Amino acid sequence: MKVLITGAEGMLGTDLADVFEANGYEIFDMTHEEMDIMDFDRVSEVFDLVCPDFVIHCAAYTNVDKTVDECEMAYAINVFGTQNVAQAAEDVGATLVYISTDYVFDGNKTTPYTPDDQANPINNYGLTKYKGEDVVREVCSKYYIVRTSWLYGRHGKNFVDTMLSMKDKDEIKVVDDQIGCPTWTVELSEAILKVLKNKQGGVYHICGGGSASWYEFAKEIFKLQGIKANLIPCKTEDYPRLAERPRYSVMDNAGLCKNWREGLKEYLLSRSEG
Ligand SMILES: NC(=O)c1ccc[n+]([C@@H]2O[C@H](COP(=O)([O-])OP(=O)(O)OC[C@H]3O[C@@H](n4cnc5c(N)ncnc54)[C@H](OP(=O)(O)O)[C@@H]3O)[C@@H](O)[C@H]2O)c1
Repeated sequence: MKVLITGAEGMLGTDLADVFEANGYEIFDMTHEEMDIMDFDRVSEVFDLVCPDFVIHCAAYTNVDKTVDECEMAYAINVFGTQNVAQAAEDVGATLVYISTDYVFDGNKTTPYTPDDQANPINNYGLTKYKGEDVVREVCSKYYIVRTSWLYGRHGKNFVDTMLSMKDKDEIKVVDDQIGCPTWTVELSEAILKVLKNKQGGVYHICGGGSASWYEFAKEIFKLQGIKANLIPCKTEDYPRLAERPRYSVMDNAGLCKNWREGLKEYLLSRSEG
């Protein structure tokens, strides 16, 4: 089975390639430089050449705060770029796996979001990713939409590493009123593999089980590392960001991943092993 990955040099794309390769798939990991998803002719050319069975579409404009000032760029990549990938996948009969986000939700619920819940993005990033979902639904006859959240992994800048890099500070203020599901990119990759093998196409929520605030997440990181850090819980208003975030973006993962604390433990172990 051939799997083509877009944005393959990113945090998730890199782990996906490793996990699928270890499970016997033939991987075509296309970096930004090798295949710009804004260039339909290039995307088509690559897809015609490879004839993939699955396309896992990770490439995206992922800087949530920058989408405030660079909305057009984010829209171009996340919507028109996705359109190019979706059309090229459809043209060669491939199944498209589109990686989406918990930020498609507005955060007004108080119980975990299910795939049937209505999306209502409150920032440009969520909006462009949700429009990307719509494109996939319109263009592709075979697709999976995988919504995930709060990713961390070995191959990208992430919250866990940022926290650990701050361990010697006098105090570390962390937001305690945004609740979500921290997710390790390796566990996500393994769960995507299982879903593709065992489940019909459709929308899936794949994220660490349970829920945490950023503060609780940080507390667990330092606890597992045996580090005493002076963590101070704060409110969203005390730590202003350019883009608004949903206060509650917990998703019901239907048992597709373990509790987020388990994933974090495994990530920290893999990190210490070098
Ligand atoms: N990180 C999270 O917490 C999170 C949460 C939910 C969903 N997601 C989704 O998960 C997917 C992977 O995210 P990630 O965290 O792995 O992001 P990432 O590390 O930023 O990777 C995204 C990749 O896409 C590439 N890319 C950007 N524009 C491109 C273009 N025009 N053509 C081809 N490639 C392009 C980037 O290359 P350059 O660096 O060269 O631009 C980068 O390698 C994304 O779809 C994201 O929306 C992420």
